[in-house]
Amino acid sequence: MATGQSVALVTAAAGAGIGAAVARRLAHDGLDVVVTDAHERRCHEFASALAHEVGRPTSAYHLDVTDHAQVRAVISEVVAERGGLDVLVNNAGWSKIEPVAEMSLETWQQCLDVDLTGTFACMRYALAPMIAGGGGSIINISSIAAWEMSTEHGAAYSAAKAGVLALTRVAAAENGVHGVRVNAVAPGLIYNDFLRKIYPEKFFSDYLSDKAFLSRIGEPGDVASMVSFLASDEASYVTGEVFTVSGGVSARG
Ligand SMILES: NC(=O)c1ccc[n+]([C@@H]2O[C@H](COP(=O)([O-])OP(=O)(O)OC[C@H]3O[C@@H](n4cnc5c(N)ncnc54)[C@H](O)[C@@H]3O)[C@@H](O)[C@H]2O)c1
Repeated sequence: MATGQSVALVTAAAGAGIGAAVARRLAHDGLDVVVTDAHERRCHEFASALAHEVGRPTSAYHLDVTDHAQVRAVISEVVAERGGLDVLVNNAGWSKIEPVAEMSLETWQQCLDVDLTGTFACMRYALAPMIAGGGGSIINISSIAAWEMSTEHGAAYSAAKAGVLALTRVAAAENGVHGVRVNAVAPGLIYNDFLRKIYPEKFFSDYLSDKAFLSRIGEPGDVASMVSFLASDEASYVTGEVFTVSGGVSARG
């Protein structure tokens, strides 16, 4: 059933952070948002809350980006149901802090599987319908950890997020001719309730006193604003780029 609206699929959209903020922002921008997440119950609950908020139906699909058969099936079902796919936001990310000398192969592999290969898999199956539909916008959520030592003992995460930037550039070069733009957003620290559980209070106060130019910690909505721009026609000459959203922290070096 084609709706006439641009269709946007967001991965890991039912958490407490960036994915949900992106889904909410794109829905308020008027896009037909498809909420996906590895957590099936939260995925359906969030989609129905969002549908209520914007006054339009919002689809929900259980999707673990490490399950490539599921990625393929969900994207093809969305395209068949909604009549195409215009925007893909690869938000799913996973990390575990372990020094390289002690890191398990499982930690390394899981991080690469979710952050890098999961992003690849979604792009792999989204590109054909986007090209068939005359173009689209893919936005990959990386991190400033891709190029700077922002997370101690986060080698797997940093490597995966750096890979996302390389994947973004090459996919942009390959697909510009088809009208598909591919960009990355690299957030600095973005607050959510889960981070409050894993980091001590001092982590946040040190961040504010030593790093933040703008005297606050980033909010998921700060990243969603950048994604909203990149998804829109306002960004029609923007591809192959990485946009930092760190409140200046990345500029400090
Ligand atoms: N929060 C930050 O400070 C920060 C900073 C830089 C980059 N990022 C990146 O932003 C993205 C979102 O992070 P966030 O902290 O805002 O979390 P989020 O709330 O957007 O995402 C958490 C959600 O991810 C889902 N998820 C986990 N593994 C999944 C998988 N394999 N497939 C599909 N869904 C899965 C969970 O079910 C949960 O609902 C990640 O890629 C993260 O690496 C976050």
